[in-house]
Amino acid sequence: MRIHYDEKNRLFKLDTDHTTYLIGLTPEGYLGHVYYGRRIGNFGGAYRLRIEEAPFTPSVNQREKSAFLDYFPMEYPTGGIGDYRESCLNVRNEQGCMGAELLYLSHTMEKGKPGLPGLPASFGSEEEVETLRIICEDRVLGLKAELMYSVFAAEDVITRSVKISNEGKENLRLEKVYSACLDMDNEDFEMITLHGAWARERHIQRRKVGYGKQMVSSFKGEPGHQEHPFLALVTPDTTQEHGEVYAMNFVYSGNFIAQAELTQFHQVRMVMGIHSEEFCWKLSPGESFYAPEAVLVYSSEGLGKMTRSFHDFYRNHMIRSPYKYKSRPVLINNWEATYFDFDTEKLLAIAREAKANGIEMLVMDDGWFGKRNKDDSSLGDWEVNEEKITGGLGELVRKVNEIGLKFGIWFEPEMISPDSNLYRKHPDWAIQIGGRENTQSRAQYVLDLSRCEVRDYAYECVAKILRSAPIAYVKWDMNRQLSNLGSARLAPDQQQELFHRYVLALYEMQERLVTEFPDLLLENCSGGGARFDPGMLYYSPQIWCSDDTDAIERLRIQEGTAMIYPISTMGAHVSDCPNHTVGRTTPFATRGQVALAGTFGYELDITKISSEDRAQIPEQVAMYHKYQELMQKGDYYRIHSWNDEKPYDCWMVAAKDGSEALVTYVQVLGQPNERSRIISLKGLLPDTDYRLEGTKEVYRGDELENCGFLVRDVRGDFQSRLYHFVKEENNNLTI
Ligand code: GLA
Repeated sequence: MRIHYDEKNRLFKLDTDHTTYLIGLTPEGYLGHVYYGRRIGNFGGAYRLRIEEAPFTPSVNQREKSAFLDYFPMEYPTGGIGDYRESCLNVRNEQGCMGAELLYLSHTMEKGKPGLPGLPASFGSEEEVETLRIICEDRVLGLKAELMYSVFAAEDVITRSVKISNEGKENLRLEKVYSACLDMDNEDFEMITLHGAWARERHIQRRKVGYGKQMVSSFKGEPGHQEHPFLALVTPDTTQEHGEVYAMNFVYSGNFIAQAELTQFHQVRMVMGIHSEEFCWKLSPGESFYAPEAVLVYSSEGLGKMTRSFHDFYRNHMIRSPYKYKSRPVLINNWEATYFDFDTEKLLAIAREAKANGIEMLVMDDGWFGKRNKDDSSLGDWEVNEEKITGGLGELVRKVNEIGLKFGIWFEPEMISPDSNLYRKHPDWAIQIGGRENTQSRAQYVLDLSRCEVRDYAYECVAKILRSAPIAYVKWDMNRQLSNLGSARLAPDQQQELFHRYVLALYEMQERLVTEFPDLLLENCSGGGARFDPGMLYYSPQIWCSDDTDAIERLRIQEGTAMIYPISTMGAHVSDCPNHTVGRTTPFATRGQVALAGTFGYELDITKISSEDRAQIPEQVAMYHKYQELMQKGDYYRIHSWNDEKPYDCWMVAAKDGSEALVTYVQVLGQPNERSRIISLKGLLPDTDYRLEGTKEVYRGDELENCGFLVRDVRGDFQSRLYHFVKEENNNLTI
């Protein structure tokens, strides 16, 4: 068993292979956070609750309750009764007063892990995961809170989620329900978050945690380009290999908050959950509310270990797609090739040339439906534009298949253009505040998916097309954020449920899609990478990482993304130069090697690029297939970072059995008066010989790790190299 309860000391102990998480109970039943860190052998640590120290618990010597509440390391703090730090649960009663107090009632432990109704959630077999539920109650409200902890031992992950049930007689209003909290002593923590903008997603940011609250958040209806539902607190000087890391990542695709608060008593409270801005959930007697899952990783071996825990966890316990470990057809997408200006002939010309160069699938992007010749109309009118696609979609797919390529298609099902037949017929289907001019973004509104008939319509539009022809792939896009929150169907006291209901509806639609079309390869997308989160990975094995396809800009974007997510999930394409977003020209080989650290595909007009570039495509496609399994299943190591002011970037993927490793080195800018560089490799077997493919050079694993590998002869800007090390079958070559 990985979960234990010590009755005598009233202590829960959760063990992964390398970590321990301890929860304690006070005599009154407050649930306290005792410890999270390196694994410890037996029960202990209860003294860390410090209930004998001032400020004492209220029942022992009648000290003021508020002094206790504002100090005690709460496992799941509630608002309104005297803990002035950030709360996780705010409940308002029918009299309009806000306050809740949770005390322990009972607990259960089980093998396996139940799902979360309507929400994406990690999963595992009875051998892989165990679950503890601690049930607490507020007797005054008749409210029960079930705190769920699941222990994934091998990946060193603990997931948390919360179920709130109204077992009383009055309607309650949940004004805040976060998913996780960690109260810790101050370790001079620094916080690592991911920030960005359109075309600049998930750059790594590191800063010191100061007194007060520091957070990243979104109330855009999706995580957004700007901030990310991830927070890591690290001890000072933490590197890839050293230091302590407490990380949380949120399995949710809507509004979020991730916050660290340094308090007057020098404690740190770290929380994660649905943002409370514009959130309120009416909970009638007999009803329950489920807060989404938060994924917790502790590493005592730096950020690299954290990264590999997340990667293994998402690969083993979150992504369900049959494509997870499969070769995915190398695609060519026509977006940057043609934008809206295409027809059957153009697409077929691209398809023919693509086939001749080894590409395996054509994806028709935005612009094939309604009268959409630019981005200002037709969202909602999902009927093929036969002026462009002569003979209809079935005919196009047939011809593309005949050429020998699979066919994929773009949708943006959640949207409605003011200039669309759908809007003219159902103006009330758009999210809007009655009587107020609605706000357009990219000339579009958002469909009110909280309404059944609206999501049925949107789903059926997609499904009808997919039923009509052999379509192998869908890119599901979402190109604006939510504003003017108002639903024509929701009662006034439920309007603040719209943000969350929208996300639940999105999940319901995607669940229907993957159930009806189990062999479909689904790629999620949101104006580039604004909805790249573990929730979406539950439905699609890959997500478009960014609209920025420039190989050099991608270094930072992919480094930040790969800090959490497996590289096989990052949509990455080779595009044309000068790059459409930044105007930079990089070698075609570099573009290919950078895209190899993602799903790998093309986004260019193959009929127009130079013959020298085109000639490299067959080799690049072969390169993808050669390394696909290693990239999908291997261990990722960040070796150097351009982000750290280095003039170069370097990462590697090592097979879990140590049989091979692929190192990617990118010199961003050439440097004058420089020598070769030594890079230290990771993840190799120390006493094993490795041959550098294509050469006679043989190295020992420990030599490559400690003495390092010499990167020689890289001259010029934007140059990249791949080094493939393969275990020598005969391991006697070196002394
Ligand atoms: C978004 C996507 C792009 C492309 C366009 C089409 O921006 O990220 O890849 O599909 O929409 O409008």
